[in-house]
Amino acid sequence: MSNQKNMPKEKGLDHTLSLLQEGYQFIINRRHTMQSNVFETKLLGEKAICLSGSEAAKVFYDNDKFKREGAAPKPVQKTLFGKGGVQGLDGEAHRHRKAMFMSLMSKDDLKEIRQLTKTHWEKAAKDWESQDEIVLYEEVKKILTKVACEWTGVPLKEEEVEDRADLLSEMFETPAEVNLNHFKGWRARSKAEKWIETLVEEVRSNDREVEKGRALYAFTWHKDHEGKLLDENIVAVELINLLRPIVAISVYIAFTGLAINQYPEKVTSLAEGEEDKLQWFIQEVRRYYPFFPFTAAKVKETFTWEGYTFEKDTLTLLDLYGTNHHPDDWDNPDRFEPERFAEWSGSPFNFIPQGGGEFDIGHRCAGEWITIDILKESLNYLVNHLDYTLPEQDLSFSMTEIPAIPKSKIKMTNVKRT
Ligand code: HEM
Repeated sequence: MSNQKNMPKEKGLDHTLSLLQEGYQFIINRRHTMQSNVFETKLLGEKAICLSGSEAAKVFYDNDKFKREGAAPKPVQKTLFGKGGVQGLDGEAHRHRKAMFMSLMSKDDLKEIRQLTKTHWEKAAKDWESQDEIVLYEEVKKILTKVACEWTGVPLKEEEVEDRADLLSEMFETPAEVNLNHFKGWRARSKAEKWIETLVEEVRSNDREVEKGRALYAFTWHKDHEGKLLDENIVAVELINLLRPIVAISVYIAFTGLAINQYPEKVTSLAEGEEDKLQWFIQEVRRYYPFFPFTAAKVKETFTWEGYTFEKDTLTLLDLYGTNHHPDDWDNPDRFEPERFAEWSGSPFNFIPQGGGEFDIGHRCAGEWITIDILKESLNYLVNHLDYTLPEQDLSFSMTEIPAIPKSKIKMTNVKRT
């Protein structure tokens, strides 16, 4: 007897508009109505499979079953990723390029980025003391632009900080929009690529010196799996793959500021040096609040899983936000409970705000450790080194805007270092 089953399927011509309208809830809503972690829908005019939960994530990260080539929708490629970057590579080409990223993630590299984060928080906070009000999200974007540039070896003058911070953030603030804002994101990408390409040209022609250990040096002289230097534009795309997401951590820092305000009882134990407790808190921030709704791949070769057929080349989305809130994987998923991480088993498939699976052979986020370290340092600064008041403001965030950011972006008054 055949165990073949028909995959639950959403009726209708195309559901792209619903995806834009429902945002983070799009896959969750259909998972509920169809009572299934696997279902078929139609997006951007093509058949698409949606997956949710840790069991589905295991399948999604199986390199024999899925590939990334051609999976990223065009608007996302034009703003968020850029063309020719590691996100769209498969097999040996991917492994080789990913190793270039992971070679920057040693313990010493992480220690340095954490130290830089602390230094730039301290400098910024000193300035805030003389201001009536600051907007945390906007300020942290500037802090992280400085951290990102210094860490990668990209030169940055004080008077350039604001413009560069805007340029880098416009790429992640607009990826899913199909309006004027999308144009803003597209224009930012093209400007940012020109900025970095010029630096790469200068390094290659010996007009600019850069320290050997820095990403600007390492990527400029990196040879691909066939022994060739990368095209200057690809070097720029990959350096922006470091700069842009480091600045994007500001979104999580805004949510960290919100969590401190919403759950004060969870903050009392976060003393300086309580590394574990700081870590549980920021892990819960990454699990609880939305950021990337899903990630995309295409079926590599037709296969069957749980009786369902996955046809070659079908676009497949893995629900990241929904998996982090899946009741099969988490107790009380809709409660903010940092203590849950004291007992968390560390599965690479159920806690996937930055993708799942493995770092080296898979597409899991290359910057996850950096993100954790920057967040821990920032949380420590906010709770142990800063006094402030949150004035009346709109702290809500929308589950249909991607990325979600608290509406007021966290205004602070009476800021003083302690
Ligand atoms: C703001 C926090 C961040 C979030 C929410 C985030 C999220 C993600 C997600 C969802 C993926 C795709 C995973 C997949 O498709 O399976 C990814 C990939 C990636 N991220 Fe991050 N990321 C963050 C920070 C960073 C940082 C700080 C860096 C670098 C310094 C970074 C570099 C990358 C790279 C290079 C990839 C591509 C990996 C590959 O395709 O193999 N990200 N990230």
